[in-house]
Amino acid sequence: MCGIVGYIGQRRAYDILIQGLHRLEYRGYDSSGVAIINEEGSLNIYKSKGKVEALEHYAENKDLSGNIGIAHTRWATHGEPNDINAHPHCSESGRIAMVHNGTIENYSVLKEALSNKGYTFVSQTDTEVAVQLIEYIMQTNNCSAFEAVKEATKRIVGAYAIAVVDRQNPNTIIAARQSSPLVIGVGEDEYFIASDATPIIEYTNKVVYLNDGEIAVINRGEELKVYDCKSADESKIEITELQMSIEELEKGGYPHFMLKEIFEQPRTLADCISGRISADGKQVTLSGIIEHKDIFLNTNRIIIVACGTSWHAALIGKHLIEDFCRIPVVVEYASEFRYSNPVITKGDVLIALSQSGETADTLAALEKAKSAGAFVFGICNVIGSSIPRATDSGCYIHVGPEIGVASTKAFTGQVTVLAMMSLLIGQMKGTISDSKLQEIASDIRRVPTLIKEIFKLNDQIQELAKIFTYAHNFLYLGRGYNYPSALEGALKLKEISYIHAEGYPAAEMKHGTIALIDNDMPSVVIAIKDNVYEKTVSNIQQVKARGGKVVAIVTEGDTIVSQMADYVLEVPQISECLTPLLTAIPLQLLAYYIAVNKGRNVDQPRNLAKSVTVE
Ligand code: G6P
Repeated sequence: MCGIVGYIGQRRAYDILIQGLHRLEYRGYDSSGVAIINEEGSLNIYKSKGKVEALEHYAENKDLSGNIGIAHTRWATHGEPNDINAHPHCSESGRIAMVHNGTIENYSVLKEALSNKGYTFVSQTDTEVAVQLIEYIMQTNNCSAFEAVKEATKRIVGAYAIAVVDRQNPNTIIAARQSSPLVIGVGEDEYFIASDATPIIEYTNKVVYLNDGEIAVINRGEELKVYDCKSADESKIEITELQMSIEELEKGGYPHFMLKEIFEQPRTLADCISGRISADGKQVTLSGIIEHKDIFLNTNRIIIVACGTSWHAALIGKHLIEDFCRIPVVVEYASEFRYSNPVITKGDVLIALSQSGETADTLAALEKAKSAGAFVFGICNVIGSSIPRATDSGCYIHVGPEIGVASTKAFTGQVTVLAMMSLLIGQMKGTISDSKLQEIASDIRRVPTLIKEIFKLNDQIQELAKIFTYAHNFLYLGRGYNYPSALEGALKLKEISYIHAEGYPAAEMKHGTIALIDNDMPSVVIAIKDNVYEKTVSNIQQVKARGGKVVAIVTEGDTIVSQMADYVLEVPQISECLTPLLTAIPLQLLAYYIAVNKGRNVDQPRNLAKSVTVE
């Protein structure tokens, strides 16, 4: 949450900062701001509540000159979203400006100590406390901003990625990180700083990922220097070449990133599968697992930790792994796991499942399991993000940047990787027959084509969305592999349309939720032909008997459900364990069109952020 950008070089910093903020807006969009040092040495700060567009509007006709600056787009934690709490924050003298992503846990103690020394504060933020602390250290130790930031990192407890500029030194940006991501782009005589690589890629593909506990000194026209904050030892800089294209970061003619990302799924899943399933479907290859074959052969338990949509994918992963590998799987909310007292043994494998690879709770859950001796494995999308860097091994889903806040292509990518993983481990363990493996692996290869088929429902779903746009509540029901799909369908609708929706195991509905059903509460029921098909059909009848409207997602050619449901959406036949990959598509489209009809900001729904780097 919160995105930070920085630039030092020869170009006008403002343009790069604003463009960077647009790229990072998915991380938070409560307010934004820039701080630029101009040729005369003035530190100009412009901030505005709301989206980056509001900042641009505000900054019009202001002095935007200068080729060093920092910028921020905020997801509020300390203090309401307003102009004053917006970043960058400034020290009392106006000399130092700072942007920050993260939370400073001991900020109230630090604030009190600084107040006692006569410092006053204008905002409610933890960031202002940190920038005042930096200036206080500079004054008392008579040191540079670099020395002061280094010292401040020893006194600050919490998570941070920060960038700092000093009006009196317009040739340097200081950046540091602890538990929040920070990437430095290395150009020709210029440097870029950002929370992720997306603002950097159009200028350079050479990046340095800062590690936890590191501080970077970025001097104009000089080589980048990185040090360990505690020991002050210089770190060896590793330059990584980015494999990302700008097209992946643009809407490509679609009105929203979410719609683009839904329609991208045939390609993203083809990329996810590429090189991992042999043409005859007999062999699955995931090097992160093969290289640690013994671990997966001998483990007695797999724990999957995740949040949000990734948690739903994890629930499908549990079915897959238990079905094909016969290894017990526990799925935990990362935020609960990290503060619980789980029994973890050395033989356990913990899978951290995360699109962004930055979710604070998932990262902390992973660290907890790691320190208890578990083998930690990451399944992530963002290359070079914190989770893959903290795990013993892992596997990327390779679906490209996901920018819409509501996760779509990452969900199907995660399920696809979990499916391939379960086939591979099952094969290694001998718990799946060769013929079953070949059947399912071949079906995975068909998924991209089948999803294209499902897109033919687009117009029908658009019409359906019109009927339900004004519903106040929705129920999503599914069983087995598609119970998590019901949860995910409900979450999609909630997060982008703000309609209350609940996902339930279809049979469990009888134990309470059925009381809510009436003519005004539509149910979306996933009733594909699986081993509990007849049971789901009965659940539909129970809803209908109480006057409920039913939208059913069924297997192509179904004649039974179509007679009882009010509306039917057909998806092609596929192995049961892969049906969530197909049922996800109409659920995504239905949520999307309802939200559009309601005039919601689909890509940036209120109160949400894509990458949740705070607790
Ligand atoms: C946020 C996003 C969700 C996402 C969840 C977990 O809430 O809005 O779309 O599912 O975080 O994120 P992760 O990056 O760990 O998958």
